[in-house]
Amino acid sequence: MQQVLLKIIENKPLTENVYKMTLSGDVSDIETPDQFVNIKLDGLYLRRPISVCDCEGDLLTIIYKVVGKGTEMMSKMSEGTLDVLTGLGNGYNTALSGDRPLLLGGGVGVPPLYMLAKYLIAEGKQVSVVLGFNTKDEVFYEEEFKKLGANVTVTTVDGSYGTKGFVTDAMGDDYTYFFTCGPEPMLKAIYKKSETSGQFSFEERMGCGFGACMGCSCKTITGYKRICKDGPVIEKEEILWED
Ligand SMILES: Cc1cc2nc3c(=O)[nH]c(=O)nc-3n(C[C@H](O)[C@H](O)[C@H](O)COP(=O)(O)OP(=O)(O)OC[C@H]3O[C@@H](n4cnc5c(N)ncnc54)[C@H](O)[C@@H]3O)c2cc1C
Ligand code: FES
Repeated sequence: MQQVLLKIIENKPLTENVYKMTLSGDVSDIETPDQFVNIKLDGLYLRRPISVCDCEGDLLTIIYKVVGKGTEMMSKMSEGTLDVLTGLGNGYNTALSGDRPLLLGGGVGVPPLYMLAKYLIAEGKQVSVVLGFNTKDEVFYEEEFKKLGANVTVTTVDGSYGTKGFVTDAMGDDYTYFFTCGPEPMLKAIYKKSETSGQFSFEERMGCGFGACMGCSCKTITGYKRICKDGPVIEKEEILWED
């Protein structure tokens, strides 16, 4: 983990309430897809965790949805620097993917899958991606995934764009392994429907964000794990769902 000051290069809306921010600086601590950063905002005690969407050279891209005070403040920033903890979390393990991995993202669970797709395609894998949203106006990053060379399907719950339904309605069965990130009901549905092993990324509420407070612990078959330090990625076989 590193604490760095990153310069805001760009901050623009992708949809009505989802923004893409590009930051520049020392991001050398970010090594694996689906690690996250933890952002300090003036006047807020707790940092705000956001997944790494992309990291290349000294540029970091994050995508965030405005849901409260912190993300609202972020959406209004056009210049300056942010105090950021980088290199947090375990990230996805691409070594387990097989030849034809399937990536399933829902809403703001989509961004970390972008860097994952990039890594898997660079490793020569045939990557399929299912991006799930509620409605057409919420869709983002379809073209970006296509440009990487992924086979992309978009689903919308109301059928206003792409395949009508949930990501599970477009999963098919032609995949060797899966990776997923999104809201918990989606993760549970994928857990039930999937026929292979896979990795789930959890966006638990956090305190410290680096393993010190146990505020994010969850029960697995091998005991309690801290989502911020031992996760956010947990393998299918380890998960114990608690209702
Ligand atoms: C590892 C990790 C990665 C994340 N990656 C992303 C991402 O790439 N893009 C993105 O938009 N969001 C992501 N989140 C969620 C993001 O951290 C929260 O939306 C954000 O902290 C809310 O801050 P706020 O001050 O705007 O809202 P607050 O005023 O703190 O909260 C407003 C609402 O957001 C919910 N919320 C607050 N914290 C979290 C949280 N940690 N997880 C889920 N919901 C929360 C609250 O329940 C509440 O309904 C991630 C969370 C984690 C733990
Ligand atoms: S948030 Fe403190 S241990 Fe995870």
